[in-house]
Amino acid sequence: MADQYARSREHSEPTEISAIRWDEPPEGPVLVVLDQTRLPAEEVELVCTDAPALVEAIRSLAVRGAPLLGIAGAYGVALAAARGFDVEEAAAALAAARPTAVNLAVGVHRARTAYHAALAETGDQDKAAEAALAAARTLHRQDAEASRRMAGHGLALLEELLPGGGHRILTHCNTGALISGGQGTAFGVVLAAHRAGRLRRLWVDETRPMLQGARLTAYEAARHGMAYTLLTDDAAGSLFAAGEVDAVLVGADRIAADGSVANKVGTYPLAVLARYHHVPFVVVAPLTTVDLGTPDGASIEIEQRPGHEVTEITVPQVPVAGLGGGTPVAPLGTQAYNPAFDVTPPELVTAIVTEEGVVSPVTGEALDELCARSRRV
Ligand code: MRU
Repeated sequence: MADQYARSREHSEPTEISAIRWDEPPEGPVLVVLDQTRLPAEEVELVCTDAPALVEAIRSLAVRGAPLLGIAGAYGVALAAARGFDVEEAAAALAAARPTAVNLAVGVHRARTAYHAALAETGDQDKAAEAALAAARTLHRQDAEASRRMAGHGLALLEELLPGGGHRILTHCNTGALISGGQGTAFGVVLAAHRAGRLRRLWVDETRPMLQGARLTAYEAARHGMAYTLLTDDAAGSLFAAGEVDAVLVGADRIAADGSVANKVGTYPLAVLARYHHVPFVVVAPLTTVDLGTPDGASIEIEQRPGHEVTEITVPQVPVAGLGGGTPVAPLGTQAYNPAFDVTPPELVTAIVTEEGVVSPVTGEALDELCARSRRV
């Protein structure tokens, strides 16, 4: 059974966005998430009381973005444990909810491991549930800290690549506080540049088909008072050609051992454009996104999403007719190609910014060395 309900959220402070929180009302523990499918029109919380509800929220993109998926996965295991559900079943369902962002499996694994270790040590189910929750809270906190450190490293890198400031940065998808325990990945760096007075303009790709750029990144940029402009994904080429882009900053859903980067579909074409136009292409991601167990880009499983996301325009807060609740923009029965992500090869990536430092040039050896260094700390 998937048990969740929605409620309006009191309007939050413009610069504060909380995408996820654990709550313990008298009826029992719940996981409260901001329903990102309803933004920017309304701030609605989904209250999940079991793992199937969270799986549904993840599949529908109410909860999304690699680091947040990891945090959600960990809390989901803690929720199952705290409510006395089958932890193994919950962990398996959560880890399989979406395949590409490795953070989801990492988050589930951390909470599940903590649960089993405590159960083996104490034989006490409540203590094991507490251990799973503690692991989720730690991951949440660590992600906030990683985001703060990535912003510092990213800002320093921008100063190095583009001395003098006045940056015009192009970004794709959504990588801010909505996907993080802190201010996010690529957007966290953009925000640091904005706060340092170094950002001239943020170019925001709309990010078809689910419009994470238009709906979510524009929402975050507006709340921070940034100078930003929204463009259709197809308009990026002419923007580069006009010399209007100084750097591209994006996040990642999985970085393979050779430095290949899986990120929201449409990222790879930007990397090709950036190379052609001699513009730095920078990936910002925490080490929880680096998967040394996946050898290369071809080995990354790319999620295929339903065709109606392409054949219809879905604006959830406006109820309209159509198979998936959206307005059809193609003849009925049209087949659609709808991969959620694409893979950018390492040779097109100028740098990968992590909380432990910057990898540039991007090679498997350099990535491996950074991961080894972080394990030693
Ligand atoms: O399908 P989504 O919205 O979950 O995709 C999100 C992205 O592709 C982000 O760019 C990615 O998770 C990086 S955020 C660190």
